[in-house]
Amino acid sequence: MQFSLKISLNYFSSVFQCPRRSVGAILCSVHSKMKVPSSSTDDGTGFRLTVVGEQDDTTEKLKFREHVIAGLTNPTKALSSVYFYDDRGSELYAKITDLEEYYLTESEREIFESYANDMVTTHFCPRNAKRNEIINIVELGAGDGRKTRLLLKALISHRVKFEYIPIDISRKAMANLFRSMDKAFPKNVLNVHGLIGNYLECLRYIFLQHPSRENVVAFIGSSIGNFSSQQASHFLQKLRAQMKPRDVLLLGTDLRKDARVMQKAYSDSAGVTREFNLNLLIRMNKELGTNFDLKKFEHVAVYNPEIGAMESFLVCTEAHCISMATTESGSKGSTTSHHFMFKQFERIHMECSHKYTPDLISEMLHTAGYQVRDQYFDNRQWFMDTVSVVPDNQQSGAHPENAIHNGSLDMENIQ
Ligand SMILES: C[S@@+](CC[C@H](N)C(=O)[O-])C[C@H]1O[C@@H](n2cnc3c(N)ncnc32)[C@H](O)[C@@H]1O
Repeated sequence: MQFSLKISLNYFSSVFQCPRRSVGAILCSVHSKMKVPSSSTDDGTGFRLTVVGEQDDTTEKLKFREHVIAGLTNPTKALSSVYFYDDRGSELYAKITDLEEYYLTESEREIFESYANDMVTTHFCPRNAKRNEIINIVELGAGDGRKTRLLLKALISHRVKFEYIPIDISRKAMANLFRSMDKAFPKNVLNVHGLIGNYLECLRYIFLQHPSRENVVAFIGSSIGNFSSQQASHFLQKLRAQMKPRDVLLLGTDLRKDARVMQKAYSDSAGVTREFNLNLLIRMNKELGTNFDLKKFEHVAVYNPEIGAMESFLVCTEAHCISMATTESGSKGSTTSHHFMFKQFERIHMECSHKYTPDLISEMLHTAGYQVRDQYFDNRQWFMDTVSVVPDNQQSGAHPENAIHNGSLDMENIQ
């Protein structure tokens, strides 16, 4: 089934904060499952937007509700960081990336500043681009795309023809990305097609739309760190299964380092990360009718060396019960209500940010069937961007001429 979703122009213009008349040109299509989509129209700036998958509010809310019920009835209470990114969450995340203590953004920006040209000339000009054919630059969980601008500028300066396809579940993040790209590039220089939806679902949509185009898939900002190591391996394998031979993956990962440095990044002195975590309780109160009292929860972030991850928790300061608004369920209109008991000092696990070593990443990519081509580091060797490709014969194996930029692979010393 394929259909277009009519979204009120008022709603759309408020989300995208642009005048109604320019929004009118954006055709927002919802593509249920994987039928080939209808075309999206240009909004006048060259940026297009498509909503992929089932994004209607009722289904999304139901999924969120089920997730919260499962997470808070579990003996070890836990919520998924995917739900951090409502409008306020995306705004707060953008604020976090401006913090000096949150070294991840600055470190990766430095890598792109130093090596974007090398990445483009050595890796992002596959056969199609050399033949002057258009390639896809796909970005998973693009956020506001601030660092990506450096890559796009390098592609433009090397006259690579490309379509930039940012993917994000957050409409707010996409709105910010559209605004920042529009500001940073002259009109009609960038061909942008934003996709709202989940990573792999959006990828399937892209690969169906452009079956013969070559792809560079960027998964940067250490977003893969939010998966457990097992989930990350699984995700990379699923991603590789969708990609074509010679498609390129750019993977940004945070590296293990002094725990105090990491601790500060996830527990900043201005309290923005604390607000970011507490915002999920606010979101649940607003969208699911829970009655969380924010004063009864403290944000705590600790490094867990056993799994090599920073973990964030909200710790309950006094025993109490949280209830969730009742909803009608079943055809007879029966109602269900939920109560979640909290003991004093009980915690909700909010987020994991896994830290890696270059060897662990190479191994993970190798196992998932990629050939690692290059690893790029910032000066402090705190962050790493790895370029790998899907091999021609679908056989994995490290490339014999792996190049290591800026330092050795031996990061174990500075954990
Ligand atoms: C940690 S931020 C990284 C943003 C950006 N890549 C950067 O480097 O600053 C993660 C982004 O991924 C989006 N995101 C999280 N889970 C997602 C999913 N399953 N599918 C699509 N986007 C997702 C969030 O909305 C958020 O904008």
